[in-house]
Amino acid sequence: MSKNVVVIGSQWGDEGKGKIVDLLTEDVAAVSRFQGGHNAGHTLVIDGKKTVLHLIPSGILHNHVTCLIGNGVVISLDALIKEADELIKNGVPVYDRLKISAGCPIILPSHEALDIAKEKKLGKSAIGTTGRGIGPVYEDKVARRAIRMSDLIQENSLLDKLTEVLNYHNFLLKNFFNESEQSVSDIYDRLLKQREIILPLISDISETLDLYQSENKNILFEGAQGVFLDIDHGTYPYVTSSNTVSASASTGTGIGPKRLDYILGIVKAYTTRVGSGPFPTELNDANGKHLGKVGVEFGATTGRPRRCGWLDVIALKRSILNSSITGLCLTKLDVLDGLEKIKICTGYNYNNDHIKKFPLNISELDKCKPIYEEFDGWDESTEGLKKYDELPENAKEYIKAIEDMVSVPVDIVSTGPDREHTIIRKNPFE
Ligand code: GDP
Ligand code: IMO
Ligand code: MG
Repeated sequence: MSKNVVVIGSQWGDEGKGKIVDLLTEDVAAVSRFQGGHNAGHTLVIDGKKTVLHLIPSGILHNHVTCLIGNGVVISLDALIKEADELIKNGVPVYDRLKISAGCPIILPSHEALDIAKEKKLGKSAIGTTGRGIGPVYEDKVARRAIRMSDLIQENSLLDKLTEVLNYHNFLLKNFFNESEQSVSDIYDRLLKQREIILPLISDISETLDLYQSENKNILFEGAQGVFLDIDHGTYPYVTSSNTVSASASTGTGIGPKRLDYILGIVKAYTTRVGSGPFPTELNDANGKHLGKVGVEFGATTGRPRRCGWLDVIALKRSILNSSITGLCLTKLDVLDGLEKIKICTGYNYNNDHIKKFPLNISELDKCKPIYEEFDGWDESTEGLKKYDELPENAKEYIKAIEDMVSVPVDIVSTGPDREHTIIRKNPFE
């Protein structure tokens, strides 16, 4: 029986989704993105060679695979073509493997300008966005004024639509943000050139997925960001502008939710967050420095240092609830090597109450002080280990404790950045 597996981040992004998607692609016919845009940065390391993908699905390096971009994804044509060119230079025939939904909204240069202007105006309260225009383009999608891939097909109405949306953007840029306006004709000319490359890639993604399923082929859905950056279920307003929970794999590609067989939640053995917003287990001490340094915690998209802290199972339980996570993949276990003590947050102190639920209101979350359970660390190196039995006893105890706390199995353990550095206890496709 074929299976449809969804890979999502269960924290604040950068859990190692790209590595795991690439690894699991061995067993699939298609990999599909379903939300977000080039705010994502997914790192693949194969035999020591690093590739960072932002928009193109992380299955692209496998030649037997079709890569799909579903309607839930927002696309900057500049970013897409740049990323494709880079891969093509490295011998990857991107355009032979890639299909894009006609429903994807297009990110225009004016969306980026608005994103940056909004952040500037927010000053100290800025979200810390990636500046890629993600928020403004999703605003336009919901307001029903976005330019979509399908508008590239209907060329005769493209200029009118573009003029209308840019009139609106320019009004905001000039009058509300006091920034310079964008040229309609420059953007239109660029779109017309890019159209030639993009048109052959536009196709019906729902039908493609349905076809693969009828042929009994496995499909992988690749999430971007993480559950706590979800527009509805995350730490609002310090979130991205799409739904990052597993259900988005259905709405963002156009196949029904009953088709999703297994949800793999990727969770770091600790926690990181880029950008602003509450983060109860954040560490500003030597342990935090260790995690940032050994884990090389710098954003794959913006290069910003990631904030680091201990694993928070109260948060993890919430993302398991929000996304029906079937199994977990625990990544970056090797980063904990050499720490004398390791902590897991098992509750919060809120106004002198011991609470065990993840507060939905961020002003409450901001006041939560973590309550920890402490574990003995290990001296041995776990880097690159491929067998569970080879792990130090204390590392196994750490994993077992997480499983017991959240009542979901850790089916995969990642012990290094390379595709090979992985322990598969249960393959989601089996
Ligand atoms: P994504 O956005 O979820 O795909 O994750 P990123 O690629 O942004 O960040 C994860 C980082 O950790 C990348 O630099 C990966 O190469 C690296 N990585 C992934 N898994 C492991 C692991 O198990 N151990 C170590 N040391 N690094 C890992
Ligand atoms: P991957 O897929 C980590 C964060 C930004 C900011 C907030 C809103 O690599 O895990 P946006 O540009 O989306 O409007 O920014 O979301 N953010 C991410 N953080 N990993 C990501 O993607 C992220 N994509 C967005 O830092 O706090
Ligand atoms: Mg990332």
